Amino acid sequence: MGYIRSPLTARRGGPLKGFARVPGDKSISHRALILGALAVGETRIGGLLEGEDVLNTAKVLRALGARIERDGEGVWRVHGVGVAGFAEPAQVLDFGNSGTGCRLMLGAVAGCPIAATFDGDASLRKRPMRRVLEPLQHIGAHVLESDDGRLPLRLAGARDPIPIMFTPPVPSAQLKSAVLLAGLCAPGETVVIEAEATRDHTEKMLAHFGADITVEQAADGGRRITLAGQPELAPQRVAIPADPSSAAFPLIAALIVPGSDVILEGVMMNPLRSGLIATLIEMGAAIERLAVRDEGGEEVADLRVRHGALRGVEVPASRAPSMIDEYPILAVAAASAEGTTAMRGLKELRVKESDRLAGTAALLRANGVEAEIEGDDLIVRGRGRAPGGGLVTTDMDHRIAMAALVMGLASDKPVAVDDASFIATSFPGFVELMRGLGAELEA
Ligand code: S3P
Repeated sequence: MGYIRSPLTARRGGPLKGFARVPGDKSISHRALILGALAVGETRIGGLLEGEDVLNTAKVLRALGARIERDGEGVWRVHGVGVAGFAEPAQVLDFGNSGTGCRLMLGAVAGCPIAATFDGDASLRKRPMRRVLEPLQHIGAHVLESDDGRLPLRLAGARDPIPIMFTPPVPSAQLKSAVLLAGLCAPGETVVIEAEATRDHTEKMLAHFGADITVEQAADGGRRITLAGQPELAPQRVAIPADPSSAAFPLIAALIVPGSDVILEGVMMNPLRSGLIATLIEMGAAIERLAVRDEGGEEVADLRVRHGALRGVEVPASRAPSMIDEYPILAVAAASAEGTTAMRGLKELRVKESDRLAGTAALLRANGVEAEIEGDDLIVRGRGRAPGGGLVTTDMDHRIAMAALVMGLASDKPVAVDDASFIATSFPGFVELMRGLGAELEA
């Protein structure tokens, strides 16, 4: 698991201009591969994110018996083994940096009568897995070896999986998805009751592959999801839209670099992923949705983004699930705004690829921006422009690295990151795409 550390520096230059399309959505890419592997026959995927996280999921699915082939850029074929059809893997399943790949696959394996060892890099080994293991144990899986519910761990799937009714104790799409994927193998109905709605890509993808799944909305924003077990999943064509969590970086760069005018093509507008756009519009951002259309069952739009003054706002805790990965880059926008931005209810940020609450505050402070953590809230005092001049420790976290580099494109002094290599987990081609818009990024 060795890698070459690659420092990178961003500096203020001219305006950002032009068109760009960011890679395919990471969440949907993992799910397309996994459901393709659980269908019988050949699934064809277009626009797959070829980031390291997703490539690790493909490798793991091959180790479990699926045949997966790449035909061209983003174009992949998956020959599935059917629900509960995974073979016991000869090797350790290595998920690298990916919490999504690992947690979804814990669920997918938990309903099969096989044992497998799950592992990942130093960042993933620190992340909590107990939240997923607990419901999977109720379904009938056993944890054979694990240190405190962390990786590496060995899981024995259920021989006779039991359908459960589960209320996730934290709003987490990974947790919900793990239970639904395990529930595929159980007879009867698996039910997940979410107090707060989280991204619904697993539900949509299950329906797309022919599973019998219903989603009832509660008046208070919660959801009750019911999945009928042991379906025969039929292979499908899947078109993956551009990832809004990746688009967030060039988007905020265009908002904060003077004179910028950028169009980001085909960005997914799923309402459960759109909290950042809603927040930026409240901050006064000039973001236009052009050519709104449907791509692969999701609404997408070309986003025209122009530089302009931003003001500080309150970001309520209720919005966190719809923008959970976007707080580091929102904090950079907040540093470039006039006034205070208070981002509430960020507890889950502490258990991402790094402790992102601490990492985001450290990123800002290293660059002369006033930022405080109060409980689970992050408070940023913006002064229109960040001073910059800092060296940011990225701590194996792709989003901290990209957020710091975007800040450096607009700050008075350059911003450096100690290691940009993890950007390849979610956004291969980030540096080239940003340079294509005019950004000054130097190795
Ligand atoms: C994801 C869910 C979120 C998010 C992650 C992707 C998914 O994690 O942070 O990047 O694809 O289900 P949680 O489920 O832990 O909130």
